[in-house]
Amino acid sequence: MDEKYEKVKEILKKYNQEQLLIWYDKLIEQKKEELLDQILKIDFDQIEELYQETKGKKDFKDCKVEPLSYIDKQKIPTEERERYEKEGIKLIKEGKYAVVTMAGGQGTRLGHNGPKGTFELEVGEKKPLFTLLAQTIKEARDKYDAVIPWYIMTSRENNYKTTEFFKRHNYFDMGEENVKFFIQNELPMIDTQGKILVDEKGMVKEAADGHGGIFEAMRKEGITEEMEKRGIEWIFIAGVDNVLAKMVDPLLTGIAIDKNFLAAGKSVVKNNPKEKVGVFCKKNNKPSVIEYTEITDEMAEKVDENGELLYGESHILCNLFNIKAIEEIAKNKLPYHSAFKKAKYIDKNGVIVVPTEPNAYKFESFIFDAFEKLNDMAILRVKREEEFAPVKNAEGVDSPETASKLYKEYIKNRNK
Ligand code: UD1
Repeated sequence: MDEKYEKVKEILKKYNQEQLLIWYDKLIEQKKEELLDQILKIDFDQIEELYQETKGKKDFKDCKVEPLSYIDKQKIPTEERERYEKEGIKLIKEGKYAVVTMAGGQGTRLGHNGPKGTFELEVGEKKPLFTLLAQTIKEARDKYDAVIPWYIMTSRENNYKTTEFFKRHNYFDMGEENVKFFIQNELPMIDTQGKILVDEKGMVKEAADGHGGIFEAMRKEGITEEMEKRGIEWIFIAGVDNVLAKMVDPLLTGIAIDKNFLAAGKSVVKNNPKEKVGVFCKKNNKPSVIEYTEITDEMAEKVDENGELLYGESHILCNLFNIKAIEEIAKNKLPYHSAFKKAKYIDKNGVIVVPTEPNAYKFESFIFDAFEKLNDMAILRVKREEEFAPVKNAEGVDSPETASKLYKEYIKNRNK
């Protein structure tokens, strides 16, 4: 232990991060050990690099950005559509399809205490988001008479509560062996001077590193290997908050197979230039998404000759990947985007600070940055009212109220 402590001290001195041991003496033995291990896992060069990047805002002026072509589901000729679907159904029936739900986010905007998937939405009766997603997968299992394994990405913070929730619900009768969990990575948060924060318990302040870490986490946690063993070829990855996500989609799968693509994504028409969604595009000839936080007003408002938004294909975080693409992407880290947030911490005088203004950088990678690693992908434009009802904010747009309305409406029309 003493040796370990000395080693840590030396590293911290080298990187000028000695504040990380400020609470060390007050910790119980087990926590002391944990803190030292936490510090030893930090890649300080990476943190320094990320800090430097926060100083210069990244933009895409240096790359060529163009709209990305898409297929409109409504306009596919019936015969062609049936051909795609047949191909997709065959694959699903053969057990080569799996679903991944990304549920590692904090759901801060919703203000729900607990994993976002446990938030209860009023849809006639109150049902947790996880229950609604489970229902969709189960319907598909029945429809195609196939086992469709479900993988759920959690964070260190919400993993226990999430797995307990599934246990309590008996894995929605899908069989425990068909519902698996894996934990996403975390990265330390830093202040405006590049110093890593100490959290209110005296440990390193860490935060989930965004859903772009999913590929690496799937590899590290043995998920891709398990999928290989099961013979899974296509994996649908979506967020936890879209209650209308059509996670088992033979049409999208059939299109990807037919066109020989390793990935495919779904879009809906962007409601207005200001809607908080990313949009599909091509950056330097590669498929990509420009996030709503990064797009310029000029680009967001540009229209084509038909008066439609030029960058109007909203990314709804419903994407399909071939397992080969996932393995390839997992070999390298995706770039990180920084976000300036409020973060509670212990300062150098040992005082707990609760900031009222943003004070720290959090680093996240985005799943769609992986698209650029692929040469091309299929984009399928679907109907918003059939596939996109996100629960993001406590009130107003994309809130429980709007999602509940859309969900009920969809079920009513489907049962007509
Ligand atoms: C996201 C997309 C945006 C898209 C919109 C559609 C990002 C960065 N942007 O925006 O392009 O148009 O959804 O609704 O995703 N998550 C994790 N781990 C993390 C962070 C997030 O699992 O570390 C999960 C969340 O649980 C959630 C999903 O990813 O299910 C979306 O994350 P969120 O940060 O809410 O993204 P949005 O800003 O809503």
